[in-house]
Amino acid sequence: MTASEPLYDRIRQRYLEHNVPWDHALPPPEVLAFAEAHQPGRMLDLGCGYGRADLYLANHGWRCDGVDFVPEAVQGAQARAVAAGLSGRVRFFHADIVALDFLKGTYDLVLDVGCLHSQPQAVCERYAEQVRRLTRPGGVFLLFAHLGDDQAPDQRRWITQPVLEGLFADGFTLERHELGTTTVGEDTWPSGWFWLRRSADGL
Ligand SMILES: C[S@@+](CC[C@H](N)C(=O)[O-])C[C@H]1O[C@@H](n2cnc3c(N)ncnc32)[C@H](O)[C@@H]1O
Repeated sequence: MTASEPLYDRIRQRYLEHNVPWDHALPPPEVLAFAEAHQPGRMLDLGCGYGRADLYLANHGWRCDGVDFVPEAVQGAQARAVAAGLSGRVRFFHADIVALDFLKGTYDLVLDVGCLHSQPQAVCERYAEQVRRLTRPGGVFLLFAHLGDDQAPDQRRWITQPVLEGLFADGFTLERHELGTTTVGEDTWPSGWFWLRRSADGL
């Protein structure tokens, strides 16, 4: 579908096999805490999967847009929204994170749980431009990523923390980050949560 086709094929295969170990009933505690601490607003979920964060936030008064490049993920998310009676508050789009020109306006919260971290560098740069455009001045970009080491870029599986922080050095302030490890299925990796605040002047 895009420049990163091997990634697409690998992830799509997982959805086709219903082997989606990151999917749980609730979004991560960091998302629950954000919802607890903020008034409802407009949220964009990049790489939304089956839409667990969108559905949770929509159920708490938010208006949510989710984007994923795997059609079966988007179809599953839409079906869950209908079943939960939330389809009036949440929209799911089959789209690539590098092709988001169809999204208009800005979002109070832009969320990424596990999408950016596996993208090639050229995609990361385009992605960061879109996040800059789509996050409301003063709004928050909340990111969860598995973190790689400093291997050569073409051998790395996950984004590194310096690359990640460099992508958002312009137009955002890193207000907080928490590092740890994350286990998905049988694998464990270093990982981090990053709370990035969009500049109030939108520059
Ligand atoms: C680890 S899963 C997490 C899904 C969801 N955020 C969650 O927490 O349940 C990452 C998701 O990002 C999507 N994704 C990866 N690369 C993408 C791209 N270039 N454009 C759109 N979606 C992408 C995958 O299809 C997958 O659903």
